[in-house]
Amino acid sequence: MAKLLVTGGAGFIGANFVHHWRAAHPADTVIVLDALTYSGNAQNLEASDTELVVGDIGDQSLVEKLMRDHAIDTVVHFAAESHVDRSIHGPDAFIETNVIGTHSMLKAAKSVWLDEGDGQPHRFHHISTDEVYGSLELDDPAFSETTQYAPNSPYSASKAASDHLVRAYHHTYGLEVTTTNCSNNYGPYQFPEKLIPLFLLNCLSGKPLPIYGDGQQRRDWLHVEDHCRGIEAALLRGKPGEVYNIGGGAEKPNVEVIDTLCSVVDALFAKDAALAERFPGAPAAQGKPSNSLKITVTDRPGHDRRYAIDESKARAELDYAAKWSFEDGLDATIRWYLENEAWWRAIMDGTYRQWVERNYDGR
Ligand code: NAD
Ligand code: DAU
Repeated sequence: MAKLLVTGGAGFIGANFVHHWRAAHPADTVIVLDALTYSGNAQNLEASDTELVVGDIGDQSLVEKLMRDHAIDTVVHFAAESHVDRSIHGPDAFIETNVIGTHSMLKAAKSVWLDEGDGQPHRFHHISTDEVYGSLELDDPAFSETTQYAPNSPYSASKAASDHLVRAYHHTYGLEVTTTNCSNNYGPYQFPEKLIPLFLLNCLSGKPLPIYGDGQQRRDWLHVEDHCRGIEAALLRGKPGEVYNIGGGAEKPNVEVIDTLCSVVDALFAKDAALAERFPGAPAAQGKPSNSLKITVTDRPGHDRRYAIDESKARAELDYAAKWSFEDGLDATIRWYLENEAWWRAIMDGTYRQWVERNYDGR
């Protein structure tokens, strides 16, 4: 029975991972450490039978105490500042959390497992991103684990720095680490600042869909459940010191993603008259197509043109393959947001933050 410390487990991917792990490995212990920043949501963990410790990954003594008290043998490290646009406007938090915070986690793990420990089996799994590899031209081969790092945003530079530190703690101290670099996730619980949830909620309220530049940037879309299965495979079958790329097998230009999202919304409104009553501001409630909301805005500075993942190593060594098609995954995601209106309304109208202040005063 494993004992997991999951950092950032109240965020989008972390919470999905906690639910996935609890269902697949019910006998294991799962402790979540999360600072509940703007994107962390304690309610994402409801009914997950986990202990949530509200704290900062940069608090090394707290992390060491948690590791000792719960005899943690596996760290799954999601906690990070995750949004590229925010990193452009305010990079400092990204250096603090993604670089210094990750280093603090590594120091804690080394101290408890190697310096005080007896070399017992352990694993430090680091969640990273395909953005560390930079931007591809249309005819370039997809990113493999040996593609040279070339991060272009403060976000990706901070993740690249954290990846290097994780690697160094393996090579220098023998910490048993694995890293997965994955593509763009989508699915339940994603904070509505990222493309898919933001554009969906804008469709429902009749707000513009701001397409950066020409909208021809390409991303590989990975359903979060597939990502969680990839991380699970890396934990169960990955070798210490190794890096694995995890993709969704769905590389698409942004305009195609946006048009597909708009047509799914239109089709759902056409089938269910109650949606027009719930969301009267939606173009789909007024007989107009959702894509009438599309507008072009100034491009993101330094915007990466294309990401694509070569996941042949994960397929061969971890037996990983995405199960969701993009079309089914997007449809299921849109339905999740429609069925969980209270979840996103509480974020949008500030009542979730008031709830955090009432419940986690002094965190
Ligand atoms: P998210 O922003 O939804 O969640 C991040 C979580 O980390 C939040 O719960 C937040 O409260 C917590 N956190 C932030 N700073 C913290 C700190 N100092 N101490 C403790 N907790 C802290 O992000 P996400 O999309 O779930 O991303 C999770 C991880 O996956 C990140 O490392 C990100 O770089 C990586 N990743 C994300 C994607 C994606 O498409 N979302 C793709 C590739 C990699
Ligand atoms: O590739 C993995 C990365 O994917 C993760 O490491 C990041 O944590 C995650 O945020 C995501 O980064 P992106 O920048 O690719 O995701 P985002 O949802 O912000 O944007 C997706 C694409 O859509 C990107 O090309 C920018 C574009 N976009 C985004 C927003 C929010 C728009 O055109 N308009 C928008 O308003």
